Amino acid sequence: PEDLLFSHQGILYPLTFCNPESFQVLDSFEARSDDMILAGYPKNGTNWLDQILNDLQITAAKYTEEEINERNNFANKLSVYLRLEFGNPEKFKWMKELPSRRIIVTHLSPQVLPKSIFKSKAKILLLVRNPKDTAISWFHFHNNMSPLPSFNSWDEYFEAFMHGKLCWGSYFEYLSEWNKHIDDENVMVITYEEMKENQTLGVKKIADFFGFNLSEEEIQTVVDKSSFNAMKDKSAQSHGRFGEILFRKGTVGEWKNYFSDAQNKEMDRKFEECLAGTKLGKKLKY
Ligand code: PPS
Repeated sequence: PEDLLFSHQGILYPLTFCNPESFQVLDSFEARSDDMILAGYPKNGTNWLDQILNDLQITAAKYTEEEINERNNFANKLSVYLRLEFGNPEKFKWMKELPSRRIIVTHLSPQVLPKSIFKSKAKILLLVRNPKDTAISWFHFHNNMSPLPSFNSWDEYFEAFMHGKLCWGSYFEYLSEWNKHIDDENVMVITYEEMKENQTLGVKKIADFFGFNLSEEEIQTVVDKSSFNAMKDKSAQSHGRFGEILFRKGTVGEWKNYFSDAQNKEMDRKFEECLAGTKLGKKLKY
C-alpha cells in the first residue's frame, strides 16, 4: 500500500488525490479576507457542510440562472480540486481567478495550511465529529475506495487509526493542533452531532458566522436541500461514482456496533490524554 501514499511533514496523503509538488507550493495560496474556509478531518461531514455553504452563498448573492450555471461549471469542471490540497500545483494559479466569495475546503491540519489563511482573517468553520464515528466512516471509505489502502479487518484498521498511520494522519493530533486556534476570533467550531440534532439551528449559526442575512424561508430551503436523503438522492449527479460510498449512513453512534470493550477504553484513554480539559475537547460530543 505504500506506493499509494506519500508523507509530508510526517503526515500521510494519498497520491491519487494529492500531488507532493502541490504541498511544496501550498504557501503560495493567498487567502482573501472574504474566503469561507471549511476545515474538517476526513469523514467529519465535509460534503454536507460544503453543500450548505454553497447554497447559502448562492441564495445570498441572488445569482441569476446564468451565474449559478457558471458557478456550477467551475465546481464540476474542476471537481478533482474539491479540496485545497488536491490536484496539481497549477491549481493555485487559477484559484486566483475564482470569483469571491470562494469556498475553500480542506482536511489539512492548521500547521500545514497556507499561512495566509490565518493572516487574512478569513473565517474558518471547523467541523468536528465524535472520533468513534469518524473512525467507522473512514474505515468503510478505505475499504471501498481503491485509491486508498484497504485493511484486512476492523481491528487492524483500529490500530492504524489510533496511531495516525493513515491518510491525513492522526485525528487526535489534528484536534490537538486545532485546539490551539480555538480562541482565534475568526474560528468557529461546529459539531456533526449538533447539525444532526437541529439542522435548522446549525444552518442559522453558519449563516450568521459568515455574515449571510437570509429570511427564515431561505434558510429552510437550504436546510431541506442538505438533508441526508436529499443529498443521497442527488449523489450520482453531484458526486458520480463516489456518491454511493460517500452518503453511506449519516447517523450518530454507529461505533457501538464495532468497538470492542477494550477498543472503547483505549480510545477513551487517548481522548483523555490528548483532549480532556481542552476547550475543543469540551465542545466535542464525545
Ligand atoms: S470526505 O470524503 O472526507 O469528504 O467525507 P465527509 O463528507 O467529510 O464525510 C462523510 C460522512 O458524512 C455523512 N454525510 C451526512 N450526514 C448527515 N447529513 C448529510 N446531509 C450528510 N452528507 C454526508 C456521510 O454519510 C458520511 O458519514 P457515514 O457515517 O459514513 O455515513
